[in-house]
Amino acid sequence: MIPPMSELVLEARGLVKVYRGHRALDGLDLEVPQGAVLGLLGPNGAGKSTTLRVVLGLVRPSRGEVKIFGRPLAKERLSLLRRVGSLVEGAAFYGQLSALDNLRWLGELAGGASRERIASCLDEVGLSARGGVPVKTYSTGMRQRLGLAAAILHDPELVVLDEPLSGLDPPAVLLVRGLIRRLAAEGKTVLISSHALHEVEQVCDRVTIIRSGRVLASGTVSELLEPQAVRLELSVDDLDAATTLLKADPVVESLEQIEGEDGSPRLMLQLTQKGEAARLNRALVEAGLAVNALVPRRPSLEELFHSLAGDAEAGERPPEPGESA
Ligand SMILES: Nc1ncnc2c1ncn2[C@@H]1O[C@H](COP(=O)(O)OP(=O)(O)OP(=O)(O)O)[C@@H](O)[C@H]1O
Ligand SMILES: [Mg+2]
Repeated sequence: MIPPMSELVLEARGLVKVYRGHRALDGLDLEVPQGAVLGLLGPNGAGKSTTLRVVLGLVRPSRGEVKIFGRPLAKERLSLLRRVGSLVEGAAFYGQLSALDNLRWLGELAGGASRERIASCLDEVGLSARGGVPVKTYSTGMRQRLGLAAAILHDPELVVLDEPLSGLDPPAVLLVRGLIRRLAAEGKTVLISSHALHEVEQVCDRVTIIRSGRVLASGTVSELLEPQAVRLELSVDDLDAATTLLKADPVVESLEQIEGEDGSPRLMLQLTQKGEAARLNRALVEAGLAVNALVPRRPSLEELFHSLAGDAEAGERPPEPGESA
């Protein structure tokens, strides 16, 4: 039976990691409930990989505590990590050996993996056809996918993946998203990192947004991202007439002229609520305007940070006694 969502599979409290005076992690908390697919979202250098390394016991934090399945990682590292699968920056494989042989070897280390299990893991990452060739002939994306197969081989309850989607081509992205969803559907818990909002939105149900080693915001994807997502980009034949009409509409909070991807002028609308595109489209068309496109636009990660950073700075904590950089 799957325990209730409130049970935390992974819990990190007050993580600090100092590298030569630089705080890569600066009091970071992380909670991953049972069955969640949580996205750790942040720009380059935010501390994502460091966080994942700390929770996997690969890097010792300067301060703070990690619990996995409710048990302290520092004390029970080996027994806990047996139940965890991970992929953190460039998994190492034997280049002379095939993917199949690498997985056989890893399977043996983990206490044995059946032929069927190995085949199905390779299949899931789209490597079945190339499973027999030496890994040294693999491309970067193929190696990454093999790393994912290796991460799930021993059927772990918690899967931790650092940027699993970056660098993959679109078909591989679909495969890996499918794999993550399959893990979630089986009740597994997944923690992934990403610097791309759309990746997190499409595969995660929860998100923790970090910058400079601190949490800016944490919650469900809909709580955090949907309020940000009420923007529409409009391409229309008469911008002035459209501007006049839209400015008079109560859900249009603001409106600005921008340059579309093709260089043509567009309008960017910021709305006060969701679900208004069809009504606005009808109003424009009824006013005799030709609407070429009316497309929802996500904010960039930077815009999202900007709006969240305002909230976070308002609630900035004072330094703890004895705390030094
Ligand atoms: N081994 C290390 N030695 C010194 N500094 C480090 C080390 N590892 C990370 N850092 C620093 O810690 C900070 C966080 O790095 P980290 O790799 O965790 O970021 P990230 O969020 O994973 O970034 P990216 O999106 O580029 O992968 C950076 O300023 C980085 O330079
Ligand atoms: Mg990283």
